[in-house]
Amino acid sequence: MNGPEPFPHPIYVTQPLLPDLQDYCDMLRQVWESRLLTNNGPMAKRLESELAKYLCVPHLSLFSNGTIALQIACRLLRLKGEVITTPFTFAATTHALYLNDLKPVFCDVEEETLTMDPDRVEELITPDTCAILPVHVYGNPCKVERLQKIADKHGLKIIYDAAHAFGVEIDGIPVGSYGDISMFSLHATKIYHTIEGGALAFKSPGLKERSDQLRNFGIVKEDHINEPGTNGKLNEIQAAMGLLLLDKVDEEIIRRKEITYLYRDLLRNVPGIRTGEDQDGVKHNYPYFVIRVDHKEYGLSRDELQKGLREYNVFSRRYFYPLCSHFRCYRDLYSARAGNLPVAERSAEEVLVLPLYGGLKNEDVEKICSVIGHIRSGGNG
Ligand SMILES: Cc1ncc(COP(=O)(O)O)c(C=O)c1O
Repeated sequence: MNGPEPFPHPIYVTQPLLPDLQDYCDMLRQVWESRLLTNNGPMAKRLESELAKYLCVPHLSLFSNGTIALQIACRLLRLKGEVITTPFTFAATTHALYLNDLKPVFCDVEEETLTMDPDRVEELITPDTCAILPVHVYGNPCKVERLQKIADKHGLKIIYDAAHAFGVEIDGIPVGSYGDISMFSLHATKIYHTIEGGALAFKSPGLKERSDQLRNFGIVKEDHINEPGTNGKLNEIQAAMGLLLLDKVDEEIIRRKEITYLYRDLLRNVPGIRTGEDQDGVKHNYPYFVIRVDHKEYGLSRDELQKGLREYNVFSRRYFYPLCSHFRCYRDLYSARAGNLPVAERSAEEVLVLPLYGGLKNEDVEKICSVIGHIRSGGNG
C-alpha cells in the first residue's frame, strides 16, 4: 500500500530552546571576566529575581536541578511520615520522598487531566499523613482549590511538583502561588531551561532563607551551620542560559500552541486517537503533545503505534510508563496495588507523547498525522 515516505532525518520528541550562539558567547565572556563561576554569582542572583518576576511569585530559590529542589522542599517543611502523591509522574517525584525517609502513598488520577483526583485523597489520609505532593502533569493544573481545602481540613502541607508547569496560570493566578512550595524543573527538555536546573517558589521569606542555606551545605555564615544541607547550587554558565531564554520563552509557547492546535485538528477524525483540550480559565504552556491510543478503536496498541512511527523516523515517548507504583522499589506498597489505581493503570498503557518543539514545521506535523492515519489503515506492513 502506498503511503508517506519516512522522514529523511530523525524527528525527535523534543529539541531544546537555544539562544543565539553569539549572545551566549557574550554572556560567557562576562563570566570569564568576572572569574565567578558558581556560589550564587551575579548571573544566578539576577536570574533568581527575574524569574520570580516572570513567574509572579514572591520568593524563589534556584537549584542545580529540579530533583534536588524537590528533595530540599521536603526538608524545608520538616516532613515526617506519609505523603500522598501520584503514580503518574516522573521517577524524581516519588524518589524525592523516599530519599527523605518519607513513605509515598499513591493516589489515583483524574481521567481528563491525569492529575491527582481530589475525590480519592481523603480515603488515603492516616494519622501518619503529613503532606500531599501532587503534580501538574504535562502542565495541566491540579484541582488546587479542592486540594487546599482537604489539606487545611487535615492540617497537611502541600508541595506541588510543577516541573512541567512553567508560566501556567489558573484564572489569572500563577500556578506557583498555590500550596506551600512549588518546584519548577529547568531541565533542557522543558519549555524554559537552564540546561539543568530547578527552582522552588514560596510565599514565606523564611523558607527562602533556609532554602538558600540548604542548597549550600547548610551554611548560614562562614562559621555557622544549623542543619545538614547539600550542594544544589546553580552555576553561572547555567544562569547565563536562563537569562537569555527568558526573552524567548513567550514566543516558544506561542509556537507550541499553534502546533498543538494543528495536531488536534488533524487527529480529530482518526478513530481511536484522543487528544487533550485546553481547560477553561487556564493559560497553558504546551510542554508536551500527548495522545491517548484506544487499542480497540485504533486497531493497534500504543506500543505498536510507537514502533510504527519509529519506522518513519519519528521518535515518540511513552511518558509516563511505567507508573512509579510499578517500580521494583515501590510496587510492594499497599497503595501501589493495581486495583487502587485504575485510571492511572489504564492511562499509562494509552499515553504517547508526539514530537513538539518550536522549531517543528507545520509540514512535519501534517506528515506525522498522516503516518498515524496510514499505520491505522494497515499500511505499515
Ligand atoms: C514531573 C517531574 N518531576 C520532577 C522532575 C525532575 O526534574 P529535573 O530533571 O530538573 O531534576 C521531572 C523531570 O523531568 C519531572 O518531569
